[in-house]
Amino acid sequence: MQPQKRIEELHRLLQEHAHKYYVLDAPTISDSEYDALFQELLALEKAHPELITPDSPSQRVGGVALDKFSQVEHRYPMLSLENAFNDDDLREFEARLRRFLSQGLTLSYVAEPKLDGLAVELVYENGLLVQGSTRGDGKVGEDITAQLKTVRSIPLRLLGSPPPLLEVRGEVFMALAGLERLNSSQIRMGREPFANPRNAAAGSLRQLNPKITASRPLDFYAYGVSLPADTGRNGQYDMLQSLKTYGLPVNEHVRKCETIEAVIEAYHQMLEIRHQLPYEIDGMVVKVDDFGLQERLGNKARAPRWATACKFPAIQATTLLRSVEFQVGRTGAVTPVAILEPVVVGGVTVSRATLHNQDEMERKDLHIGDKVFVQRAGDVIPEIVKAVVEERAEDAQPIRMPENCPVCQHPLEKPAGEAVTRCHNPHCDAQRLRSLIHFTSKAGLDIEGLGKKYVEQLFELKIIEDVPDIFGLHSRRHKLASLDGWGLKSADKVIAAINSRRNPPLSKFLAALGIRFIGEVSATSLENHFQELDKLAAASHDELLEVDGIGEQAASSIVEYFSDEKVQAMLVRLKDAGVSPVAIQPVAGEGGTAPLADMVILFTGSLQTISRSEAKKLVKDNGGTIATGVTKKTTHVVVGEKAGSKLKKAQEMNKTILTEEEFLQMIRQ
Ligand code: IVH
Repeated sequence: MQPQKRIEELHRLLQEHAHKYYVLDAPTISDSEYDALFQELLALEKAHPELITPDSPSQRVGGVALDKFSQVEHRYPMLSLENAFNDDDLREFEARLRRFLSQGLTLSYVAEPKLDGLAVELVYENGLLVQGSTRGDGKVGEDITAQLKTVRSIPLRLLGSPPPLLEVRGEVFMALAGLERLNSSQIRMGREPFANPRNAAAGSLRQLNPKITASRPLDFYAYGVSLPADTGRNGQYDMLQSLKTYGLPVNEHVRKCETIEAVIEAYHQMLEIRHQLPYEIDGMVVKVDDFGLQERLGNKARAPRWATACKFPAIQATTLLRSVEFQVGRTGAVTPVAILEPVVVGGVTVSRATLHNQDEMERKDLHIGDKVFVQRAGDVIPEIVKAVVEERAEDAQPIRMPENCPVCQHPLEKPAGEAVTRCHNPHCDAQRLRSLIHFTSKAGLDIEGLGKKYVEQLFELKIIEDVPDIFGLHSRRHKLASLDGWGLKSADKVIAAINSRRNPPLSKFLAALGIRFIGEVSATSLENHFQELDKLAAASHDELLEVDGIGEQAASSIVEYFSDEKVQAMLVRLKDAGVSPVAIQPVAGEGGTAPLADMVILFTGSLQTISRSEAKKLVKDNGGTIATGVTKKTTHVVVGEKAGSKLKKAQEMNKTILTEEEFLQMIRQ
């Protein structure tokens, strides 16, 4: 037989048996027979690499590692759900539906287990999986196609006759047995175990190296499509049946309910079976079945009116409270953390639980050595509910807040009426380290390769002691490369990542500084209002109050922050190191047109001050369009270092050519 024919046949066979095994849970051949077919395919593909197709089962092992995820705009937003917690909330859900629609309608529902994992979108074109992404903020997610291809129950090619374009939504999750295995190996390798299945699923999918994702026991259930009509069905239940015929896994506990009382019954049944399931569910999702009614009900800002998530109560277990650690945060807040005898709570091993603050701790009246109830609810950090006082040893010592900072010994303060105990020593090592970790983290400037572990290492070695030191790291390339766990390649990567952050958006920079009461949203208002860091730093309390969303507390905090001499000295050093935050002008619709309106911009060569994805985001945010090649439509070409053929073509075609700096200027104007 011709290799191509045999390869096609093997694809078909392997796909059919994988579907029976992973989706239907009903294999008809043995594992070794399956392996033999798989090996035959690998051998043929090795001999004929030109015959490897993207839907080949061999492509599930994970391809090459990425530098970073690119962004994907969802064609239709991926919404979230409002919550209900009990029978009455469910009846109120129906009452709301009836108030919105006319009374007297027959409403039927679909009840689905709410898997505790990560929402993803899978785009199938002509039956072929072409793109997979995370939910992200609902509008824009991350492209994790290569990672999702490694999930065995996700079909690379659909069966039956799917519509030409099908955007499937569903949950990627990790079954409890898999999570336990993964967590023991994490602990063996000295890494933090995952706190819950959701973190494990997210952490495994967001691996730049899909080979790592491939090694993780992930699974998938489909629960919807972006455009319900795509499947030619009239309701959620029938649509899910269609998805099954396309080979997509749909949870077997999905039920159709003709009344809200039947939904409530389904909820109680799910509560009962929840502990027998091999995966964690944290509630039940109820959806109005009829697509016509769904459309009439429509959506609120973030969630549809036609669905709700009825959450389950938290899961509890008992264990021993061994000791308490006091952690000092970025703002000096001291948080007591209980160290527990490790205990499995709903399939997840818990060995630490937050005690929040002194008042909470005293209210619970915990003593060292107490037997305590621990609870986990969905993705919330485990908590101690109470101690079993009857079993307390007579000489057990109550837990008290220390009087001095456990890190710098500075006296702690707890202002009357406030819950938080703080260390007010600005030189406290714990606070400095935490601030640095925040600065480089996703919530800050998101400097890739400079995660918590590395910041801790560099801080301990006194290589970075404050924020400006980060921007001087390029002069210590060899020192970095010589460190444990580094090498020249990682040093260069980190230095490049730092360089790409020398002109951060002002709002990001402000959020990274970690000024109290200034989060992402208020930082954006400040950027829009002041446009320049110096202007913000010089602003008075009253001027600050004029800014949208800035109240008394935030205004005082900003004034206090920028009047601190050490902060001023730090800003000077940052400027000297070439760090200069840029403001991104508000786009069209807020008075005036967007700076890049009607421009079609191409980037070529390697950019020096901002990353490619940031550059693209800037173009979009400012009303422009991205070009992928030099065509008639392209209006501007931005050239970075080592630009090649595209630059030449642009010159031949007389396009406007810009340097990176000129491009940034256009936005700043
Ligand atoms: S439907 C427009 N169905 O719950 C409806 N969601 O806050 C959007 N989830 O992000 C979701 N199981 O990750 C739906 N059967 C199910 C689900 C489910 C789990 C998750 C999903 C979503 C979150 C809703």
